[in-house]
Amino acid sequence: MSLGKIIDKKYNDLSRRIDMQKVPEHIAIIMDGNGRWAAKKGLPRSFGHKSGVSVLKEILKASKKLGCKVLTVYAFSTENWTRPIEEVNYLINLFCEVLKNEIEEIHQESIKLKFIGDLTPFPENLKKIIYSSESLTKNNNTFLLNVCLNYGGRQEIVKVAKELALKSSSGEIKPSEVNEELFNSELLTQGIKDPELLIRTSGEKRISNFLLWQLAYSEIYISDVLWPDFNEFEFLKAIIDYQSRNRRFGGIESLPNESFEDSQYSS
Ligand code: IPE
Ligand code: IPE
Ligand code: MG
Repeated sequence: MSLGKIIDKKYNDLSRRIDMQKVPEHIAIIMDGNGRWAAKKGLPRSFGHKSGVSVLKEILKASKKLGCKVLTVYAFSTENWTRPIEEVNYLINLFCEVLKNEIEEIHQESIKLKFIGDLTPFPENLKKIIYSSESLTKNNNTFLLNVCLNYGGRQEIVKVAKELALKSSSGEIKPSEVNEELFNSELLTQGIKDPELLIRTSGEKRISNFLLWQLAYSEIYISDVLWPDFNEFEFLKAIIDYQSRNRRFGGIESLPNESFEDSQYSS
């Protein structure tokens, strides 16, 4: 069997194991490992960032094919400004280029594009293309792609606290009315269901200030693969792993035919 056929077979075997009824509606991804991927090849870090773009396209297509509805990707964190200015500038230019090149196809695919984070510090040319992309795709309803840019989970929570404090001091709400629902309504992700699954590539086992509120009960899948090497095959592995989890949300696993009275807690 040729190598191509072996890969096809492995892919088909994997996709057959997916339960299409249990595909997460919302998947969040920390696309990590670009710099290490480039360094391993003796290349500048920028090569890793550039290579990561086609991976995002592949994963976006794969998510749509599976029937997932929302993908939220971490592209630039509030802490990434601490990187060398050359790398930050490279990333900003890359975001501009990618948006310019891809927006037509994104729109044709009926994908709604939304940017999450504080866009204020970015240069005007990037902000302009971001706003026009969001406006062009605002009525698309097949799929939602959230790109987190200059995003930090703590900053988002502080922003919500400030909004609620302001509303409270102006008398619009009472402090006693502050609850999870109200808090949710001020988040940058308001109206979007929390992710059922978080994928982080490159083997790092941390959240790095991503969606701190929204990930409260998400299943976490860590892939050792560096983002530029990640692909549909690895993505399917993450979905299959997710589908094997028992999501308890603080409760207990419901076992068939076991009533509360039968359990160890009855006297
Ligand atoms: C993720 O890859 C992309 C961004 C943070 C923009 P990194 O650039 O963090 O790559 P590593 O983790 O240094 O390998
Ligand atoms: C998280 O990755 C941010 C993005 C992927 C955009 P980092 O590489 O910045 O996170 P740390 O520094 O490893 O925690
Ligand atoms: Mg990293």
